[in-house]
Amino acid sequence: MSLPAVNIVILAAGKGTRMHSDLPKVLHPLGGRPLLSHVIDTASQLSPARLCVVYGFGGNSVIEAINDERVTWAEQAAQKGTGHAVMQAVPYLADAPVTLVLLGDVPLVQVETCRTVVQQAAKGNVVLLTVEKANPKGYGRILRAFGHVSGIVEEKDASDEQRSIREVNTGIMALPTAKLSEWLGRLRSDNAQGEYYLTDVIAMAVADGIKVLTGQAEHEYEALGINSKTDLAQAERIYQGLIAGNLMKNGVTLADPARLDVRGQLDCGRDVSIDVGCVFEGQVRLGNNVRIGPYCVIRNANIAADVQVQAYSHIDGAVVGTDGRIGPFARLRPGTVLAENSHVGNFVEIKNSDIGVGSKINHLSYVGDSTVGRDVNIGAGTITCNYDGVNKHRTVIGDGAFIGSDTQLVAPVEVGAGATIGAGSTITKNDPAGELTLSRGKQLTIAGWKRPEKKK
Ligand code: UD1
Ligand code: CA
Repeated sequence: MSLPAVNIVILAAGKGTRMHSDLPKVLHPLGGRPLLSHVIDTASQLSPARLCVVYGFGGNSVIEAINDERVTWAEQAAQKGTGHAVMQAVPYLADAPVTLVLLGDVPLVQVETCRTVVQQAAKGNVVLLTVEKANPKGYGRILRAFGHVSGIVEEKDASDEQRSIREVNTGIMALPTAKLSEWLGRLRSDNAQGEYYLTDVIAMAVADGIKVLTGQAEHEYEALGINSKTDLAQAERIYQGLIAGNLMKNGVTLADPARLDVRGQLDCGRDVSIDVGCVFEGQVRLGNNVRIGPYCVIRNANIAADVQVQAYSHIDGAVVGTDGRIGPFARLRPGTVLAENSHVGNFVEIKNSDIGVGSKINHLSYVGDSTVGRDVNIGAGTITCNYDGVNKHRTVIGDGAFIGSDTQLVAPVEVGAGATIGAGSTITKNDPAGELTLSRGKQLTIAGWKRPEKKK
């Protein structure tokens, strides 16, 4: 069945008092993105005639944080309840027969569920998405008479008997657009919270002889409303579980799906394996046969096939070529590009540098603002001194060069191809290709020298 034209209204004006935070509730992150962004993405998949988000608390900061051109923003200057919020959207609605209401704090509802609700509403019905909860506390309860929905009562307004009802309102409903403003105009705020409840339109629909149907979400988590940090943490685990499930379905080996966090987009080739405790942020691409060791943090990176990243490595804004070996305890910072088969070992930091094919920087080094050729060996403890306190300067190292351990390369400086730098040198001038250059005092032995002694 094709989808009727639909308006979607997402309610996102509330402060979220129970979050105890200065950040508007709908901007709290789930999987690294604001709650509201998840709902907007789901809504967009239904190609609505109008996608209207009602904002209020936090003002323009919400619009700026979301920064989404698909959205028409409607302001609710004072937060007088969910019914009052929908009212603010009415002037913006397109001429579509159905209006679907979603909540900015119910982020895990699935697009298929929304589609079903909209389809059922196509014949002029009101459709409520409900779910049976083992613990319904805090949610609006669905009231039924002879099996048919007769209304919704909020937790705070409910009698003890009504509170024992386990079928709850998810907050998601589809309504005939033509009826909406009339019903909203009749709402009253004489309830426990002094608010205009959207949920009160259900009893009005029943009174007007309009059928109120209920749809059930396939998964209970789709109905999870985020009202507290506890809810947020619960939603995060569920969301991460869904991502881990998808990765495994596509063939990724996860040492423990419960110990993986993806805060963005992680794309994996074939036979990728990821050990425990890894965090992926932004856009990360892992090629075929990549192995990620435990406790790595990888953000905005492209890691080519056959690379091994060992434990506790931190990669941010970097490209790693095929067959590379990274870590343990390596740090690749933005602008790092490693060509194939390069090795970066423990306690090595690389920033804004190109490292050529087969080059090795295996221990305790800092390489910044550098161009390193192929088959270069950079010895332990080498530092590029790229910063003079004001400006950054480049270091250029030619193919096949060998940099002895504990060398300082004071940029700007160039080491020629095939050059060798003696260990312990401070290099301030360019070094000719193919030659040995060193700068260090000659070793002396002073015969008969005595340490000073303490006077008694
Ligand atoms: C609401 C429903 C409840 C349902 C639950 C599901 C009402 C009256 N109650 O309760 O039946 O079980 O959601 O999660 O609808 N908002 C505004 N403007 C306002 C008030 C709220 O935009 O003036 C927005 C909030 O930002 C939030 C959403 O509406 O995204 C829900 O508001 P909230 O106060 O969390 O309602 P609940 O008490 O959870
Ligand atoms: Ca809520």
